[in-house]
Amino acid sequence: MKWRSCAGAALAVVLLASTSSAALADPLAPTGRWSAYSRAAAQTPPMGWNSWNAFTSDLDEDKVMGSAQALVDTGLAAKGYRYVNLDDGWWLKRRESDGRMIARAARFPSAATADGATSFRPLTDRLHGMGLKAGIYSDIGRNSCGQVFTSTFPNQPEGNVAEREVGLYGHVDQDIALYFAEWGFDLIKVDGCGVRGLPSSDKRVKAGEYRAFEPIIDIDSLGRTNIVKVRELYEEVGRALDKHNPDGDFIFSLCLWGSADVRSWGKDVGAMSRTSEDISPTWGRMLHNLDSVSRRALYAHPGTWNDPDMLFVGKGDFGLEHPEAARSHFALWAMVNAPLLIGYDLRKASPALLDILGAREVIALNQDPAGNQAVLTFDSDEVQVFVKTLADGGKAVAVFNRTDAPAEVILTAEQLKFVASADVDLTNLWSGEAQRFKGERKLQLAPRQTLLFRAKGSRRLADGIFLSEQPGAVNPAFDGVITPIADPIIHRAQPPWRGTRGFGERPRYGGWGGAQADRTPFDQELAIAGRAFDTGIGVLGNSRLEVRNAGFRRFTAIVGVDDSAVDKARVVTFQVYGDGKLLARSKPAKWGQAPQDLDVDVSGVKLIELVARTTGQGNADPVTWGDAALRR
Ligand code: GAL
Repeated sequence: MKWRSCAGAALAVVLLASTSSAALADPLAPTGRWSAYSRAAAQTPPMGWNSWNAFTSDLDEDKVMGSAQALVDTGLAAKGYRYVNLDDGWWLKRRESDGRMIARAARFPSAATADGATSFRPLTDRLHGMGLKAGIYSDIGRNSCGQVFTSTFPNQPEGNVAEREVGLYGHVDQDIALYFAEWGFDLIKVDGCGVRGLPSSDKRVKAGEYRAFEPIIDIDSLGRTNIVKVRELYEEVGRALDKHNPDGDFIFSLCLWGSADVRSWGKDVGAMSRTSEDISPTWGRMLHNLDSVSRRALYAHPGTWNDPDMLFVGKGDFGLEHPEAARSHFALWAMVNAPLLIGYDLRKASPALLDILGAREVIALNQDPAGNQAVLTFDSDEVQVFVKTLADGGKAVAVFNRTDAPAEVILTAEQLKFVASADVDLTNLWSGEAQRFKGERKLQLAPRQTLLFRAKGSRRLADGIFLSEQPGAVNPAFDGVITPIADPIIHRAQPPWRGTRGFGERPRYGGWGGAQADRTPFDQELAIAGRAFDTGIGVLGNSRLEVRNAGFRRFTAIVGVDDSAVDKARVVTFQVYGDGKLLARSKPAKWGQAPQDLDVDVSGVKLIELVARTTGQGNADPVTWGDAALRR
């Protein structure tokens, strides 16, 4: 029993360091309850339009309402694009007498009121009358991103130091009540620049322009970031949103650009969460943002989505003179369940652009009710294969050429978890063209092309589903990462806002070592004592996974310490809980010992919890739930 108390002590310390006080004393203790965020209106990824990529902060009522009208007139709204989101630039100031936020009525005439208090209610009423939803923008600190980073852009807050403090800090309840209860917004994007860019050493702070906020985020350093504090501030906003939206019809959008280890905890706090820096209309930055979500399939579920940032379809490298690249960007965002937020001046959208943004079959993949983010089943810096399991049991597959040269790709039935000896039917979702193969099919790709198919075949697991096929139903409630590590396998592109000044991009988004579908937490093949598994869940020891069970009768897995473990002496015990009760446990397992079969009756169980307990301090080594599956 000694190993147990050790683990308890180590984890209690962890908790103090990485989660809020509301968390349990022992994060491995079963709760019988799904803990990922699912309170709000995002059972499928949010869709709509946002002003930033189209206009930056140079926005006004005509531009916003023109784009809203275009959503309706073009039929995009009917296809699901409902949110019309104001980004940075809507605010004028915070009224000193009572702290009320004042909208920029010179740019939004309908917001003007006789007493100068301003109200966005007429604007949100009009949007609601058009069948749309309305989104607003703020910052978790006292000051805004525009003030901190792009102060030459138009529509920066005005007035004295206090009046220019337009962010939520110190005003959370007041602002959320105003934006949601009084003004009627349905979504808020909360940025983080105010807690990042105004140290007392900043020359604008020294000049008395802004109050100092000693940074709690350093996007370049997890070590210099106060993850607990950042998370607490966002949780406070979440509570205010719950309070002022009793109908639950709201979306909380976190904008922390992958910093503060948010790629691990965003799923517990909001409905969508940015995983990387801002997208730019360049191929390299699109790859960077895509890579920041593509190995995070287990961190997105119905109710909470990874957000690789808004769409740039129609602009720059994704302009219509580059149709393959434009379609790739859209298809990949659809496959990884990204929120689909258009960033284009829709008043000027051409039919060819609308064909891409409005592609029904592609949107349907994104909005599939099972909510399974695509899993990478072939990975390289050149070509990738993403496979997404749909609610009807079928598959969608994206075969992606990242390079500027033509590419040949062999798609295999195994990659789709289909039987190699049976027919696989592919339907091309852009052209409608059908083809059939057995075993494997050679595909030719143009530079930057993504071939996108629906696939039907004979499932390898005839009587059930592998957990790695349904990441939307598997939640790493505690993934065992005690000390966050920056993810080294994200495409490093030149940031256009810095060019080649400085060193270039170092790995800096936390998440490395997190739970993975079909690979270890460090992107190795799953293997126990020399037996490899192409299917399963890889996670660190001292972890707890929650698995939703919709009527399956057995849980089966082959478990053990993964061959990639460094500490050969640690002992791990695997436990399976059903609705909070222990159903099965493995014998204590060590590195190099034969894998153990688990076959557990889960009839009638709604929530299964998979716990891997081990001893020791800090991040434990990888363990493998090989072939983990739910069976009928
Ligand atoms: C950035 C954010 C962008 C946009 C911008 C506004 O921090 O990532 O999406 O909102 O601020 O200033």
